[in-house]
Amino acid sequence: MSLSPERSDLASPKAKTAGKARTPLLAGNWKMCKTIPEALSLVDELKASCSGLPDREILVCPPATSLESVSRAVRGSFLRLGAQNLHWESEGAFTGEISGRMLASIGCAYVIVGHSERRQYFSETDAVVQKKIHAAYREGLVPILCVGETLEEREKGLASDVAARQIRQGLSGLGPENFSKLVVAYEPVWAIGTGRTASPAQAQEIHAVIRGLLSELYGGKAADGTRLLYGGSIKPDNIDSLMAQPDIDGGLVGGASLKAPDFARIVKYESR
Ligand code: PGA
Repeated sequence: MSLSPERSDLASPKAKTAGKARTPLLAGNWKMCKTIPEALSLVDELKASCSGLPDREILVCPPATSLESVSRAVRGSFLRLGAQNLHWESEGAFTGEISGRMLASIGCAYVIVGHSERRQYFSETDAVVQKKIHAAYREGLVPILCVGETLEEREKGLASDVAARQIRQGLSGLGPENFSKLVVAYEPVWAIGTGRTASPAQAQEIHAVIRGLLSELYGGKAADGTRLLYGGSIKPDNIDSLMAQPDIDGGLVGGASLKAPDFARIVKYESR
């Protein structure tokens, strides 16, 4: 049985919130956490605690082993489904890998590409990330391209340069037609899983740089329509001030997405 949803519907920004013309996207990256029963029980809790928010998109990215079960569980609900990684080929002799085609066939609408943990622990280079971005589009998945600097790079004043390099190289060869759907996540490596969040001002500064670069590369309209997420130790107590920034359109949430009450509070952010 094919679980493919109407992906154009799933992925398209469909509503607006005050002050921003882009539909906020709150995404949970479960990383290598949750067995199938645990994943299903979290989905049940999220369905109960995050409903009734039609002006924003809510996405869960479980590990590959749970994708099919979660796909069935979220079908027909407001929850969207994404994967955490993909291979750049559609099929072939790549032991242990999973292709975008396979992800699309079980109902994924999104895929995280170039997460810093993949760059750091699995040697993903900008060239690999670029191939994966192309593969995501080819298979009808919306890529969430992750960029961000290490602490050492920030201390050397290179934060903007690193994000710009990762974006230029990751997106190289892409046509402007893909831009209505691209999502970029700025995730400073020093803030991921450390409890150390970028301040709203630090995050906004890099988000503005990223939007400026997208405008230079693909035009103002494409840049204005692209959702830019912040990621790195998002918690219930810092989401409101992050979402109040003009260029922050959502969050990619790791640790705090594993507990339904925390993720529900994040999803119900109040931007003042
Ligand atoms: P964190 O992870 O929220 O646990 O810092 C974010 C991410 O890696 O996407």
